[in-house]
Amino acid sequence: MVFTHSLPLVPAPVSAAAGEGRMPITATTRVHGSSPASAQLIDAVARRSGIRLSLVTTADAEIELRIDPTVAAAEGYTLTVDDRVVIVGADEAGLFYGVQTLLQLLREDESGWGLLRAEVRDAPRFPRRGVMLDVARHFFGVDDVKKFIDSTSALKFNHLHLHLSDDQGWRVHIDSWPLLTERSSATSAGGDPGGFYSKDDYREIVAYAAARHVIVIPEIDLPGHTHAIGVAYPELVEAPVMNDGLISESARLGQPLPVAGETYLGWGVGHSSVRIHEERTYDFVRDVVRELAEMTPGPYIHIGGDESLGTPQADFDLFAERATAIVVEAGKTPVAWHEMGSAANIAEGTVGQYWGKTVPEGTHAEEGKHFVERGGALIMSAANVTYLDMKYSEDFPLGLTWAAIIDVRTAYEWEPTAVLDVPDSAILGVEAPLWSETTRTFGDVERLVFPRAAAQAEVGWSPKSAPERNWESFRSRLGALAPLWKAEGVDFHPADEIPWSER
Ligand code: ACM
Repeated sequence: MVFTHSLPLVPAPVSAAAGEGRMPITATTRVHGSSPASAQLIDAVARRSGIRLSLVTTADAEIELRIDPTVAAAEGYTLTVDDRVVIVGADEAGLFYGVQTLLQLLREDESGWGLLRAEVRDAPRFPRRGVMLDVARHFFGVDDVKKFIDSTSALKFNHLHLHLSDDQGWRVHIDSWPLLTERSSATSAGGDPGGFYSKDDYREIVAYAAARHVIVIPEIDLPGHTHAIGVAYPELVEAPVMNDGLISESARLGQPLPVAGETYLGWGVGHSSVRIHEERTYDFVRDVVRELAEMTPGPYIHIGGDESLGTPQADFDLFAERATAIVVEAGKTPVAWHEMGSAANIAEGTVGQYWGKTVPEGTHAEEGKHFVERGGALIMSAANVTYLDMKYSEDFPLGLTWAAIIDVRTAYEWEPTAVLDVPDSAILGVEAPLWSETTRTFGDVERLVFPRAAAQAEVGWSPKSAPERNWESFRSRLGALAPLWKAEGVDFHPADEIPWSER
């Protein structure tokens, strides 16, 4: 085996050595292993190559999958492709990730399908690697979300944050407040069709994610971004508060201003707030959090907290303290956008999601740090590098530009521990959000997400010191994902920074 940079793997493993040549894959290749990852491997190989491997119970199979907790840290694995394949996961997730790596080694050439010979040792840098899908500005149904889980878990993402409510709509059914979905789900931004998840839909997404080692984090955005709540229950929400940015942006885009009690079709922010001093508001928050917690096996409920420009600061802080305490009472760990770090007594252990820039502005750094002071930790979603809804270039037809123009290289070249003055151990990992103001179809979503999500996958997974952890190596490895994405029908943007390969 010789050490090489040429294995087409994203995210880059801890260590990888390429062997000589390829191990052929044919219809007689057999898989041995009792984990769900075995069937997932067989299905993925069939989708890609048309070859259906067989699952056997004999240990002399050409592909062997097993678990051994001593081989690597949590989620890690070892993988050898020689005349046989052996993948050993430290746990089920590790085995699943070993399978994802193997699928990147599966290549077609003149002689047919084969696996590049390799020896890989791997485990993640950060425990938390997330993507977010905003299903509030535009709604995406269960099948789209499943496809999103497939394509992101293949890059070793392990959290899916669903932004389930915003000014434009409420997207999950809540039995105790049924008018939320009855009155506030029918439309999306710009007047496009809306939708919502029934509880069974939501449970189906959660189960599908879990089978791919993805934890779903439901977000109800509070106390701002709540116009849609007021359409269903006017007594919970204040009259809209206009701000200069909202007025000028709405005029520039030809969008209507928000009107109390009427569905909002624009995408201006900062105008809505729930009523902070009404006890009924907290009955509402408690009921919604309880119902979400009941159908969310993962440890987190995200309570929002961003851009509450119309909520007075003292009221905002009071709300942040009460809402995070309600999440704790429901047995979950609160997650909040970094603004909630302004609240002195935010619930201990609350996880902050930092969405400021890589060079923090205003009070963002202090707010972020306060989560750590309260025994919590941080997820880094620096907007000028991780936001998947920013345009790749000035003339890209989709997306916005308020945080930055983010080409693939910009998305790749940043360091999550270098943004805030907190111990490295306080950084749980990274999350790349896709806001959906401009994405009218799921293909639009995919063109913004891919390939840049792969950059955040590598930032979150690969050791900073891996020899391949640099732009020149990344762009060449990334290019080799094109045939995989094409086989899975992922509508990626063929950015011209990347040397895309045919097979
Ligand atoms: C955000 O981008 N408002 C979190």
